[in-house]
Amino acid sequence: MEDLSLHMLDIAENSIDAGASRVEIKIIISGADDRLMLKISDNGKGMDEDMIRMVKDPFFTTKTVRQKKFGLGIPLLAQAAEECNGRFSIESEVGKGTVITAEFQYSHIDIKPLGDIGSTMTVLIGGHPEIDFLLSCEKNGFSYKLDTEELKKELDDVPINLPDVLKLIREDINSALKGET
Ligand SMILES: Nc1ncnc2c1ncn2[C@@H]1O[C@H](COP(=O)(O)OP(=O)(O)OP(=O)(O)O)[C@@H](O)[C@H]1O
Ligand SMILES: [Mg+2]
Repeated sequence: MEDLSLHMLDIAENSIDAGASRVEIKIIISGADDRLMLKISDNGKGMDEDMIRMVKDPFFTTKTVRQKKFGLGIPLLAQAAEECNGRFSIESEVGKGTVITAEFQYSHIDIKPLGDIGSTMTVLIGGHPEIDFLLSCEKNGFSYKLDTEELKKELDDVPINLPDVLKLIREDINSALKGET
């Protein structure tokens, strides 16, 4: 995968497939610790211990619709983090939800660029307007937050997946993150 936003999309899609109604995405960059952390939490169906062990194996997937033999979203992100002197973890509880954390050494030569976070978020929001997404980004004191639950209230009767609304969301995210990440 070219950039971290595509990993983020894949992991958030897992949350949606798991029936989550709320997906939280956190990107935290700490220059002092030389770390970039990507954390995705959901309130979906969760996984038990055996399942967690299996999903780290690239030959495991519960998807059958496309007759897929490989589930690659999780192993690829785990590999990307480990290649950058980082860590990867899955915390999950059946019936409660899942937290996926990937950490990278921020100055590592092989770290992937963040990519187009605005477009990734609008793909998620546009495709799943009923799900609440919370994006928060922090870098050395700078912070940005977008909570679609709040945004939907402000929008009132205007659908969040209207193309003009999605365009504004994308631009808001990308202008906030410009030069900051
Ligand atoms: N947030 C989650 N909640 C519950 N189960 C999950 C979650 N994320 C992953 N899983 C389970 O782990 C499996 C493996 O996920 P992974 O992203 O690695 O592959 P995939 O989604 O099956 O296929 P791919 O991502 O390659 O399209 C999924 O099929 C699903 O059963
Ligand atoms: Mg997946």
